[in-house]
Amino acid sequence: MNKKIAVLSGDGIGPEVIAQAIKVLDAVAQKFNHQFEYTNALAGAIAIDKTGNPMPDETLQVCLESDAILFGAIGDPKYDNDPNAKVRPEQGLLKIRKEMGLFCNIRPVTTYESLIGKSPLKEERIKGADLVVYRELTGGIYFGEKGRKGDGSVAFDNCEYSVGEIERIAKLAFEAAQARRKKLTLVDKANVLETSRLWRDVVKKMASQYPDVEVDFLFVDNAAMQMIVAPTQFDVILTENMFGDIISDEASVITGSLGLLASASIGAKTAMFEPCHGSYPQAAGKNIANPAATILSAAMMLDYFKLFDEANLIREAVQNGIDKGLSTIDINPENPLSTTAVGDIVANYIAESVVTA
Ligand code: IPM
Ligand code: MN
Repeated sequence: MNKKIAVLSGDGIGPEVIAQAIKVLDAVAQKFNHQFEYTNALAGAIAIDKTGNPMPDETLQVCLESDAILFGAIGDPKYDNDPNAKVRPEQGLLKIRKEMGLFCNIRPVTTYESLIGKSPLKEERIKGADLVVYRELTGGIYFGEKGRKGDGSVAFDNCEYSVGEIERIAKLAFEAAQARRKKLTLVDKANVLETSRLWRDVVKKMASQYPDVEVDFLFVDNAAMQMIVAPTQFDVILTENMFGDIISDEASVITGSLGLLASASIGAKTAMFEPCHGSYPQAAGKNIANPAATILSAAMMLDYFKLFDEANLIREAVQNGIDKGLSTIDINPENPLSTTAVGDIVANYIAESVVTA
């Protein structure tokens, strides 16, 4: 198979973790006889430094001409303490989501048997937790009208959703539930928000088309608590943009490290794959960051290409390394390996595996 991949490494540890994902993709290409063609493009703070724009048109063009986008991380502390900064790296991420129509953000959260003690949550509570958050990514309060009123002492952020925006992600979430443990939980705030009431109406109507899926509804405040108290109750969580942002960071605690969480952002025409973690500037250039989240995001990209055996082999290779204690400092502080060493271990596992066609 021949695929064109846009590579947006971004800032901080982005380039280091992306390099490991590409190393692993190359091992897969070699093993299974695929051609992956990479085109690098600028995004984030580095793009601001070079062009003044966190998501230059040229980058969007490269993405449009590719089959998928592999994304590292963006963000730089020099913007964090300046709420009035006119351009910010994060705007680049919001822009690519909107421009590429990446409406469905998928964040799987699983537990690794050998890491169960690494989570700050009690072992008996998280054992067996296996859930996936379907977060709406191009609507809601993130993209509504925003501004200041009067002399500037009043600010507003508008939250809007249409039936169509809800239906298209709900369809993917229902289908995911059908392929998993057949449970879908809509997380909302329907006791207060009109947009949440629309989400409930739409999901209730759609539920009859998926009779094998059990649907339940949770207010987001309760869901935040349930996530910590009893995470094994969840299978597919469907939610709007901001609730999904918050709940997915919270859910990451179950796995034991944010350095393990992958994500996919799916649109009608293309899709983007990126680790859930940020640019971790303190670790940049030190070769210590965990590349697993990015490598696992590359596996999700191969799923999107319908290369399921290849994707599963990557996941097996990552799991094998974790189980043998061959990990970076975030989960292996006693005997930490470097970013590149973890990438090598995963790539070598793939190179040495016996593939039965
Ligand atoms: C995420 C991030 C982004 C978001 C920021 C960086 C704009 O937190 O991908 O979850 O809020 O969506
Ligand atoms: Mn977030």
